[in-house]
Amino acid sequence: MLIRPAHLDDAVTIGNITVAAYQDGGHLSAGSPYEATLRDVGPRVDFTVVAEVDFDVAGAATITPNTHQLTGIAREDEWEIRFVAVSQPLWGTGLGRALIEACEQRAHDAGATAVVLRVIDINERGLGFYGRLGYVRTPERDWSPETDPSIRLLAFRKALPAAT
Ligand SMILES: CC(C)(COP(=O)(O)OP(=O)(O)OC[C@H]1O[C@@H](n2cnc3c(N)ncnc32)[C@H](O)[C@@H]1OP(=O)(O)O)[C@@H](O)C(=O)NCCC(=O)NCCS
Repeated sequence: MLIRPAHLDDAVTIGNITVAAYQDGGHLSAGSPYEATLRDVGPRVDFTVVAEVDFDVAGAATITPNTHQLTGIAREDEWEIRFVAVSQPLWGTGLGRALIEACEQRAHDAGATAVVLRVIDINERGLGFYGRLGYVRTPERDWSPETDPSIRLLAFRKALPAAT
């Protein structure tokens, strides 16, 4: 496995992998308008890392500073992880962990003190995954869209080691 920064050439593949993983995870229904956001990789490509297996991109994750347009809940000194996806046949083989660790390293190198993220409440696998990686629930930062309060995004935070 190789973890590397994403390039614009990867954008279509990243979009395909992300849509497929969210559908396989059972938290993106066919025809959801959110699919267009998942496929719109251009605005996030400079803040995305990919996992390659046998020279093919098989996973991706994005981490943005709190000033970025795609950041939802990060405060000053925090960076935010979004759009984490691994191709389903490779779930459980360590790609997700490697992607998150690369994101955390990038945030740490930029001086962030913590990483935050949100997970939809029906994504049981994702909830277990982030708990395993040391993310702690911050319920006061949970969020639902005004247009559909039945959608509940649960907030998590992980403090990073102090910069040396
Ligand atoms: C969630 C996802 C990214 C995890 O990727 P993955 O490559 O399967 O994860 P890994 O194999 O790296 O697992 C990392 C650790 O989490 C643990 N883990 C994974 N799922 C878990 C769960 N449901 N409960 C508890 N621990 C879990 C693994 O056992 C592993 O622990 P270890 O390294 O100590 O052995 C992947 O399943 C995915 O793409 N899901 C669909 C998209 C999605 O939900 N994205 C997140 C949206 S916020």
